[in-house]
Amino acid sequence: MAPATLLGSTGASASSDPSGLVDRFGRRAVDLRVSLTERCNLRCTYCMPAAGLPFAPDDQLMTAAEIERLVRIGTSRFGVRKVRFTGGEPMLRHDLVDVIARCAALPDAPELSLTTNAIGLSHRAAALYAAGLRRVNVSLDTVDPSVFAEVTRRPFLDKVIAGLSAAHDAGLAIKVNAVLLRGVNDALAPDLMRWCLERGYELRFIEQMPLDPDHAWDRTSMVTAAETRAMLSESFELVPDDAPRDGAPAERFRVLARTADGGVGPELGTIGIIASITESFCADCTRTRLTADGHVRSCLFSDEETSVLGPMRDGASDDEVAELWRRAMWAKPRDHGDDTDDLVHPTRGMSAIGG
Ligand code: 5AD
Ligand code: SF4
Repeated sequence: MAPATLLGSTGASASSDPSGLVDRFGRRAVDLRVSLTERCNLRCTYCMPAAGLPFAPDDQLMTAAEIERLVRIGTSRFGVRKVRFTGGEPMLRHDLVDVIARCAALPDAPELSLTTNAIGLSHRAAALYAAGLRRVNVSLDTVDPSVFAEVTRRPFLDKVIAGLSAAHDAGLAIKVNAVLLRGVNDALAPDLMRWCLERGYELRFIEQMPLDPDHAWDRTSMVTAAETRAMLSESFELVPDDAPRDGAPAERFRVLARTADGGVGPELGTIGIIASITESFCADCTRTRLTADGHVRSCLFSDEETSVLGPMRDGASDDEVAELWRRAMWAKPRDHGDDTDDLVHPTRGMSAIGG
């Protein structure tokens, strides 16, 4: 297909820097999130309704070869350095090892990581490491079995814990992502923190974002980063880590134990708190996203999507695909509305967009 047909003839320059994914506000995207599926074997209340969601049919999803091609375009033309596979639950893709191996074999291979709920990871961690995966970000909101079942609507805590320990044994670096829900798991946050620190898993608390398709999110139920920090400080000494954040959204804290007399004990490790809503980090955002059905999404909170998979299947060249991707990112919104009520609630939920 000729470029003029594919890209339209609007003429306006999509970006001033043809070598990168630059937007109107001067941000440059070098972190790619690739969703591999919309399906999930959990039903976390803040992400999916109990009955699940309609999923795109498999033939509309990017194949391993298509993902490899897009990742290659990202690394070779846009300087993408990190690729995180996400979902839905990416381990529900039977070809996950193949996807990772293909991306790891690219020239200038990016750092590869996986966001997962860890169910099934106990069987696959070693193969994923061998394929080139180096990091997993595991979603785990509590280590209390009944609260886990309440949050995820599934009784699978044991599988998650087994998955985490297999990942650790396989040599994968581990981060644990937790969302605190008021009156559900928030009071158990110190227990989760102790549990992760004892095992060397880096825990990050993430403010709940309005990404639930039920649209049940409201600001008052959200446990803020400030509240989380205050609550954890009752049991531990948290010392802000001054190392540069480098665009990373988490504010990091060194955690020190408290002694019986209220003094400060030994250092236990580091945690992060991500104020996704109350302290927007949009100005430093370095992300670009691909949905499982091959659409570029410039922001979690923007409903603007640009298909690159459709044009690819219609025969678009790498140049044409790259130009579509660049244009989509050029239009990235400045932010997602800050701490006010105009925060956009995107139509697609997290499982469909990719976390
Ligand atoms: N708010 C914050 N985090 C969320 N996640 C899923 N839905 C939400 C939400 N509404 C997290 C999951 C997972 C990552 C992909 O995003 O816990 O760790
Ligand atoms: Fe599945 Fe992750 Fe959504 Fe939970 S948050 S339902 S694990 S996609």
